[in-house]
Amino acid sequence: MKIALEELGEKELKPLYEDESKLVFGSIFTDRMFTMHYANKEWNESRIERYRSFNLDPSSCVFHYSQEIFEGLKAYAAEDGRILLFRPDQNAKRMNRSAERLVMPTIPEEDIIQAITELVLAEKRWLPKQPGTSLYIRPTMIATEAFLGVHPSSEYIFYIIISPVGAYYKGGFKPIKLYVEDIFVRSNIGGVGDVKTGGNYAASLMAGHKAQQKGFSQVLWLDGRERKYVEEVGAMNMFFVYGNKLVTPMLTGSILPGITRASVLELAKYLGLETEERLISIDEVIEGINSGTITEAFGSGTAAVISPVGSLYYKEKDYFINNEQVGPVTQRLYDKLVNIQYGREKDPFGWVREIGRY
Ligand code: PLP
Ligand code: COI
Repeated sequence: MKIALEELGEKELKPLYEDESKLVFGSIFTDRMFTMHYANKEWNESRIERYRSFNLDPSSCVFHYSQEIFEGLKAYAAEDGRILLFRPDQNAKRMNRSAERLVMPTIPEEDIIQAITELVLAEKRWLPKQPGTSLYIRPTMIATEAFLGVHPSSEYIFYIIISPVGAYYKGGFKPIKLYVEDIFVRSNIGGVGDVKTGGNYAASLMAGHKAQQKGFSQVLWLDGRERKYVEEVGAMNMFFVYGNKLVTPMLTGSILPGITRASVLELAKYLGLETEERLISIDEVIEGINSGTITEAFGSGTAAVISPVGSLYYKEKDYFINNEQVGPVTQRLYDKLVNIQYGREKDPFGWVREIGRY
């Protein structure tokens, strides 16, 4: 794919953030973005151009029926000057799975990866270097046909924006408090919970907002049918540690198959831990916390990395895990994953892709 590059003069560049250690998640964006347009059954006009607003018809499909998908991955600065992407092939694959589910056009995986790579390299002056910081990359596809009938759009924009980020949760690598939601649900089997589409997040807002007002970081969702089985967190998959065993909800069709989740499962096996993917009821979790068989819990996600979970609030009661401290298994998995992502340790899995130098 040939990507046109808009050169920006020194004076046209945005001022860079001043302090890397103050970066939060997703609030500032780099100078340029990637865009590509779909019409007449073809992708065309791929370019890296100045970050700017879109001019869209108010009747565009995306505004009314949420025909939208997105991805999230990161570029990391290794201490030796390499710029690394973590498993971009997996994001490209999931993007296309999401596209198929929402009846949107797919994009050759290598084109998605090329667009990400060229954009990151064009914007590398924004790459923060401190531990815990990275460039968060957000590939997105929106339906732009101007038409109010409910049918798949015939026109789309695929674009990629980049945000220099620090930790997703305000507290950094500290145990978070989760609210177990037993009224609202995020998704159901047969729905779109297993793909990355904006509607899932819209559906989650009310519960998430209420939980935040009560002082919780996020919601832990239960299954849509019985409110019995643990599914996932707002922006993370969930893991429970039983001594040397890691248990995570199996992918039933309503959970997002996280790339970090898959990586944690592989890492755990590599480190000699036992792993299980199965149904886990909230009753089992509460019982396990009370009896001490659940020794740790954490969530996994691109933005959140590995986030220890210190407590669950369920039916008007708090349940504390590992005295709200980071446990040894969580710490070990976090260290290993982060060391691989930042190129500090050899990557035995071939996950990390060097795309250039800063
Ligand atoms: N579950 C949800 C709902 C998410 O939004 C995310 C974030 O991407 C994840 C899980 C974790 O997925 P991944 O590890 O691919 O980032
Ligand atoms: C990610 O981790 O990439 C996500 O998409 C989470 C996001 C909803 C903040």
